Amino acid sequence: MDNWFTVQAVSKRFFGLQALQAVSFSVSPGEMVGIIGPNGSGKTTLLNIISGYYAPDTGTIRLGHTRIDGLPPNRVAGLGIARMFQITRLFRRLSVLENLLVVAYATGRSGEREALERADQILAALHLEGMRDEPAASLSGGQQKLLEFGTCFMANPQLVLLDEPFASIHPTLKEILATFIRERHQAGETFLIVSHDIPAVVDLCPRLVVLSAGTVIADGPTATVLDTDQVIEAYLGEGWHGTAS
Ligand SMILES: Nc1ncnc2c1ncn2[C@@H]1O[C@H](COP(=O)(O)OP(=O)(O)O)[C@@H](O)[C@H]1O
Ligand SMILES: [Mg+2]
Repeated sequence: MDNWFTVQAVSKRFFGLQALQAVSFSVSPGEMVGIIGPNGSGKTTLLNIISGYYAPDTGTIRLGHTRIDGLPPNRVAGLGIARMFQITRLFRRLSVLENLLVVAYATGRSGEREALERADQILAALHLEGMRDEPAASLSGGQQKLLEFGTCFMANPQLVLLDEPFASIHPTLKEILATFIRERHQAGETFLIVSHDIPAVVDLCPRLVVLSAGTVIADGPTATVLDTDQVIEAYLGEGWHGTAS
């Protein structure tokens, strides 16, 4: 299934600004694809369109044989596309465990017993089991981010969209998060990861799609893409010199 998830010629304009221009790429099941690009290049807009927060002006998006462009966010989520935001969203007064269960029940994709088991696995993997029954508000900012991240995995997603998962979190938590992503990926989940953190993305993703001013300027194996002149140039303004380690 080479064209399991496809973005085909997607464009989006905000007033005078062409945020995305004929963006196309496709993803196979089980891939982990990094989406990188300078600030303002359209990365978040692309995730917003995939997850149904905006309809594209033109272009199509398909998951399997289903056209999803223009569907509202709850329908897109119901098809198994999970989205994590740059800003943390939790029920602060519910316990850590309850925050996970709410998602499972809301999507109706699993029974109570299965949901509890899954929640406990996720809490263990995220090193949050000790906080299981504490209110979410009592977690540190970084732990809240981990928990929100965990909520994405309660509904057994087919495709996970992450927007800057490593932004402003402590290196220890970042390591936990990266390990968790790797484990979920090995378990068969497919990821699109938007990130500024080139070393982290390079470490996780065998393939990169690069956006610059709303267009795809490179798409391919990570090492090849990072060696592309156009990509190096797109980043020079941000002080990046193409050597990601
Ligand atoms: N809702 C919106 N209304 C107007 N302009 C927007 C909106 N969302 C994004 N933009 C603009 O679109 C461009 C791409 O933004 P964004 O997708 O957030 O970039 P990135 O995530 O790559 O930094 C930016 O110039 C941004 O200001
Ligand atoms: Mg962004």
